[in-house]
Amino acid sequence: MDGRPGDFEPSALGTREHWDAAYECELQHFEDSGDAGEIWFGEESIRRLIGWLEKQKIPLDSCILDIGTGNGVLLVELAKSGYTDLVGIDYSPGAIQLSKKIMEKEGLPQVKLQVEDILNPSDELSGFHVCIDKGTFDAVSLNPENAAEKRKHYVKSVHRVLKSGGFFLITSCNWTREELLNEFGEGFLLLEELPTSVFCYGGKTGNNVTVLVFQKKI
Ligand SMILES: C[S@@+](CC[C@H](N)C(=O)[O-])C[C@H]1O[C@@H](n2cnc3c(N)ncnc32)[C@H](O)[C@@H]1O
Repeated sequence: MDGRPGDFEPSALGTREHWDAAYECELQHFEDSGDAGEIWFGEESIRRLIGWLEKQKIPLDSCILDIGTGNGVLLVELAKSGYTDLVGIDYSPGAIQLSKKIMEKEGLPQVKLQVEDILNPSDELSGFHVCIDKGTFDAVSLNPENAAEKRKHYVKSVHRVLKSGGFFLITSCNWTREELLNEFGEGFLLLEELPTSVFCYGGKTGNNVTVLVFQKKI
């Protein structure tokens, strides 16, 4: 960390070891209670994303990728909303094991789930109409080893797996609109910022979550 804007204190949240340990616990919790576990940014964040896709009339058979899917609950809700071509990736095998169990419980075997590191995606991961990130770029940004380089890789990978003209929806609690524009501005156009809850503290108001929709430049 060298104190430039956009650099964060490295954290365990940026390491695979952290997520592997977290999903080991979540898997056990799911086995014991049937509870899917944490929904990052809450259910509201899922409604917001699906609301945008519906408002834009994104066809239900569009190929949609959830980057760093975790327990896959976003994909469950997308499937329940009628989307049929869904793929979730996560670099933690425990996350993919958990999300597969949840799909099985929900009767959604058609949702594809695979262990993939978005910083080094396989060739078969390509041609997506929509990519969604809810908290994964935030995690990448917290990696203790060369986060700035990893962020660049991330941007390149998302650009590579999306079709020309495809959409990238990002939900972040670490980055402001301006900072995200700075990271993604080269290969993507900012289409829209989606409204989030506003907090008020000490006479000042602000948002602690940023949700942006980018479109891959043609
Ligand atoms: C904050 S959690 C969000 C999980 C899920 N998107 C949600 O909203 O509930 C971040 C997720 O990103 C995954 N992740 C972090 N870095 C990744 C990478 N390089 N490639 C794939 N997945 C990654 C973690 O394993 C974790 O599941």
